[in-house]
Amino acid sequence: MSHIRGRFHKAADKLVNEYTASLPFDRRLYRHDVEGSIAHARMLAKQGIISGEEAETITRGLAAILEEIEQGKFEFKSELEDIHMSIEARLLEKVGKVGGKLHTARSRNDQVALDLRLFAREAISDTITRLRAFQQALIELAEASKGVVIPGYTHLQPAQPVLLAHHLLAYFEMFERDAGRFGDCLKRTDVMPLGSGALAGVTYDIDREFLASELGFGQVSRNSMDAVSDRDFVAEYEAAACLAMMHLSRLAEEVILWSSAEFGFIELDEAYTTGSSIMPQKKNPDVAELVRGKTGRVYGSLMALLTVMKGLPLAYNRDMQEDKEGLFDTVDTLLATLEVFTGMIKTLRVNDEKAGQAVGHGYILATDLADYLVKKGEAFRTAHDIVGRLVSHAVERGKSFAELGLAEYRSLSPLFDEDVYSLTVESSLASRSVAGGTAPAQVEKALAGARKIVGDSGYGK
Ligand code: ARG
Repeated sequence: MSHIRGRFHKAADKLVNEYTASLPFDRRLYRHDVEGSIAHARMLAKQGIISGEEAETITRGLAAILEEIEQGKFEFKSELEDIHMSIEARLLEKVGKVGGKLHTARSRNDQVALDLRLFAREAISDTITRLRAFQQALIELAEASKGVVIPGYTHLQPAQPVLLAHHLLAYFEMFERDAGRFGDCLKRTDVMPLGSGALAGVTYDIDREFLASELGFGQVSRNSMDAVSDRDFVAEYEAAACLAMMHLSRLAEEVILWSSAEFGFIELDEAYTTGSSIMPQKKNPDVAELVRGKTGRVYGSLMALLTVMKGLPLAYNRDMQEDKEGLFDTVDTLLATLEVFTGMIKTLRVNDEKAGQAVGHGYILATDLADYLVKKGEAFRTAHDIVGRLVSHAVERGKSFAELGLAEYRSLSPLFDEDVYSLTVESSLASRSVAGGTAPAQVEKALAGARKIVGDSGYGK
């Protein structure tokens, strides 16, 4: 870069230029870079470090450059290292020497920290918005399938009946915590680093509070060395994204299972499935599979960043340029995943008949039978044992609980009576009316709570 090569006699090797450049990916920060520079120029003028007229020229130049970039007319030159230098070089071309005053009281180190924080702040708010839309879709599906019962599983073995809505609201809770994590991460991202200079602060009488308020930051950074070398906020976004993707991937796995012929609880809309090039009967849940698959790259970006940072002495080191691609990829992957998954949830159909059949298999009321005996005075451990033997008896005879005669029940415990036949899936559900349980009345309350959370967040109004 010619204008900073003062102490050099040689141009950098071409391969070195390519190897060290971040322009191919950090051009994505152009809007944030211009925004930060305009605020900086205004602050310099307000403080009398440059004249008002100079600031005018610079900001007009920057606005024109922004337009060039947005209209695809900007020439990105590969010999310029990054977006910051590209914009500055273009500013010099456009407004002449006065453009060289923009970088007064600033370093690329605090500049890049600022740009990345501006980017992350936006990404966080987009992420929360998409999470809310996703939660809204879960609520709608839960509402629409209120009466649907599915087997609840442990070890992927049918365990106890649950409402599908209850199962869906379990995911609502996970995404609620995810939204909270992004919100927390925003607090620590919302810190304005300009004024830190290269690492030690700057020698000019600048106004950092003014910069923060121009750029809408809640705080200014307290330590210049920390501010130029900290990428915790990126790691936090990525870590929160890892958890959100983990939750999305688990739900994707359920979608894959549930849409299989074996389960058949749901049918995916054709728009969210693909056919096979060889097997005409196939309708593959590729979207859900890719949600599961893309989770890997998001984990990878977090691990890459943590590894990049772990051995760096203060303050800025060029290694840190490696922070960006992982962040961009994570934001893109998470936002796209949330959007496509929302569509998939909104269009899938629930097959309550298949779900009902699945609930009918597998002695799913065994716990309820044990509880029945306990309520008649039996100790729970003994009751568990009795029902275990009852299951074995029924399995051997190929009978369901309902098909066993009262004598068969009584052969295992005299506490069994006619009323054992009134144990049903419905009574099982209704009996789990503890707060947070799957009883329809509790699920109704949970739904109301979920609607309120999403509504209060400003989404779905
Ligand atoms: N391209 C660099 C990055 O993305 C910008 C900061 C460069 N600072 C420096 N002293 N070389 O991290």
